[in-house]
Amino acid sequence: MTATQNYKPSDLVIFGALGDLSRRKLLISLYKLDEANLLEPDTRIIGVDRIAQDSVGFSEIAHKSLLEFLSPTLDKVVWDRLSARFTYIQLDINDLPQFEKLSAVVDQRNRVMVNYLAIAPSLFSSICNGLQQARLINAETRIIMEKPLGHDLASSKVINDTVAAAFREEQIYRIDHYLGKETVLNLLALRFANAIFTTNWHHSTIDHIQITVAEEIGIEGRWDYFDKAGQCRDMLQNHLLQILTFVAMEPPANLEARSIHQEKIKVLQALRPITDTTVEKNTVRGQYAKGSIHDKNVPGYLEEAAANTVSATETFVAMRVDIDNWRWAGVPFYLRTGKRMRYKRTEIVVYFKQLPHNIFKDSFQDLPPNKLIIHLQPKEGIEIEMLSKIPGIDGSIKLQQTKLDLSFLETFKDKKVFGGYERLLLEALRGNPTLFISREETEQAWTWVDSIQHAWAGLQDKPRPYMAGTWGPNTADALLARDGRTWDD
Ligand code: BG6
Repeated sequence: MTATQNYKPSDLVIFGALGDLSRRKLLISLYKLDEANLLEPDTRIIGVDRIAQDSVGFSEIAHKSLLEFLSPTLDKVVWDRLSARFTYIQLDINDLPQFEKLSAVVDQRNRVMVNYLAIAPSLFSSICNGLQQARLINAETRIIMEKPLGHDLASSKVINDTVAAAFREEQIYRIDHYLGKETVLNLLALRFANAIFTTNWHHSTIDHIQITVAEEIGIEGRWDYFDKAGQCRDMLQNHLLQILTFVAMEPPANLEARSIHQEKIKVLQALRPITDTTVEKNTVRGQYAKGSIHDKNVPGYLEEAAANTVSATETFVAMRVDIDNWRWAGVPFYLRTGKRMRYKRTEIVVYFKQLPHNIFKDSFQDLPPNKLIIHLQPKEGIEIEMLSKIPGIDGSIKLQQTKLDLSFLETFKDKKVFGGYERLLLEALRGNPTLFISREETEQAWTWVDSIQHAWAGLQDKPRPYMAGTWGPNTADALLARDGRTWDD
């Protein structure tokens, strides 16, 4: 780490420091960053919450959380270094004068204040007002916020307006943790640094693209939130659409935030709306029923603790998405995401077009298409399915499907792969907004999703049940079968 001339140390203020997000994700990421010597020595971490506690108590809670959610043993040197950064402030967010307590700790002249809002959006307005009233916002102050940023376009606008009244857009960092995942970023390298892909990434060579984000977990005690959101708002509006923009965007002029955001917005603007007349044909909703995953029985969605037993919320969604622009005309993107599926898997599969003529009929009546499979998780890597000659001197040329396999873990054995939160926290501390979502992007995504939600609301039928531990309802297979295709299972 070399301090640049303009370098100023950061005060990372976590609102909701004792809450779930902070304890399960943020503190763990900060520990890992410190372990890798990636936190500047003078970065301070200021925990803010309404619960009565002092800095020692906060340290103890953080320590317990790390033992519980990260590892049963911690490196003492790393822990000592991390905990020395901690200060705790008890503050009732709804009582604006209490923000003066923060003024006493934060040094706005010599340090950059980076505020992480790890709390419900209903409290954002109080925080912005409190910070403003205590004159804690200057041109360098940043704010990081995380989904759910609204339920639809209208409510997301309210949140964005609230924050925009106190911060300029350049100061606002909207997190989608998928954008911190190594392989999502590697898509930029794959597409724009390799001629083999750059020149073959369009409708003339690609038949269709599948994006699957399958989860094993159910709703994990988050019934209240999830039942109002559903899988489309929880996963598709953000994570899947973000992956889609990276797969489909035009080459950005450079790697700067503005260039990348502009190209992503163009993709979102070109998504063909799914409306009342096309929704039944192009979308499938499912809801998990009891089943088993890795031989363990799991309850159905309606049997989860605190369930509303007549809920019609979808836990699975699949859809055909068309992008109306020159590059992607006639190339469907099939998106699929669900909870309680067979196993956790996030991948993008690019199916190339079949060749116009087959001279290897002895091996294959129809030559299988080349497939590029980009594994985002659990094991990051890239595979290409291709055809090769089976070795032999019997005079025939017999083909077999083979794989070119690039496992990132194997290839970059000596490199540590960081999780999404580590990368994004660090980027926010460094003041680089490239991997965060602009207001226009999120609103464009909501506009598109709102149209689907509206169309679903007008349908008679409910989400189709699917057994936990499967790849979703049969209707998801039918969605592709209708186009003569199958999911890459
Ligand atoms: C979150 C969703 O954004 O992403 C969760 O709210 C989901 O419902 C999670 O389980 C999945 O993240 P990951 O990184 O485990 O794929």
